[in-house]
Amino acid sequence: MDVVIVEDKESLGRAAAALVVDGLRADPRLVLGVATGSSPVTTYRALVSTRADGLDFSQVRCVALDEYVGIPASDPASYHAFIRREIATPLGLRPDNVLVPDGNAADLPAACVAFEDGIRSLGGVGIQLLGIGRNGHVGFNEPGSPFGSRTRVARLSETTRADNARFFTRPEDVPTHCLTQGLATIVDAAGLVLVASGSHKAEAVAAAVEGPVTEACPASVLQRHPQATVIVDRDAAAGLRRMGRPHASLGGDWLD
Ligand code: F6R
Repeated sequence: MDVVIVEDKESLGRAAAALVVDGLRADPRLVLGVATGSSPVTTYRALVSTRADGLDFSQVRCVALDEYVGIPASDPASYHAFIRREIATPLGLRPDNVLVPDGNAADLPAACVAFEDGIRSLGGVGIQLLGIGRNGHVGFNEPGSPFGSRTRVARLSETTRADNARFFTRPEDVPTHCLTQGLATIVDAAGLVLVASGSHKAEAVAAAVEGPVTEACPASVLQRHPQATVIVDRDAAAGLRRMGRPHASLGGDWLD
């Protein structure tokens, strides 16, 4: 696992975007797995700014990590809407190149199978961007999620519902359930890039990067992945005791 520590969330976005750009240069038809929420927003903005340098995302295929159950795709709080607004439209992706699990399907388990089939038919995810929850979740794999899990209906923890209430009008509007890629689905990606900023993520980052590999901290599964990069700003790095390897090309540095 490479751990890159950068100054702030803008540098974090540039560092994560640089990895995606490398992937895009290697394969214009890159399959990019995307997280939603606050953490990757500076990454998406940094990617959008690369279009001015002539980078072309028109062949990129994009795969979501998760979606709420019961929120219409037209609702701004849905992950369908987030991906359209922050990623697909500004990067110029083709709408039929965007795969998001259907949290409004009449048969949710069948929607999970269809989503996994969709990933397989794309040939798997090339680079998967991830955020991390304060409780160590990745995707919506809450603590205790099996490392062998695949895309499924999952219940959101009350911590996660409280954290995500900022995206909804009222706290009680936050869905109780979601469809999420499982941990085994996530680690199938060829490369993982986890981004975290802010002191509220410091404990989760330390557990994920330096703690035991345990289902109690789902993000610790990244320690087993051969191509995982964790990019954090100084506040999110505050709990790290041993530093990661410096990664000069990304502008990372040592904190000691
Ligand atoms: C979002 C997702 C979640 C978030 C995590 C952090 O698609 O899967 O794991 O990445 O909850 O959210 P933020 O970045 O909003 O703090």
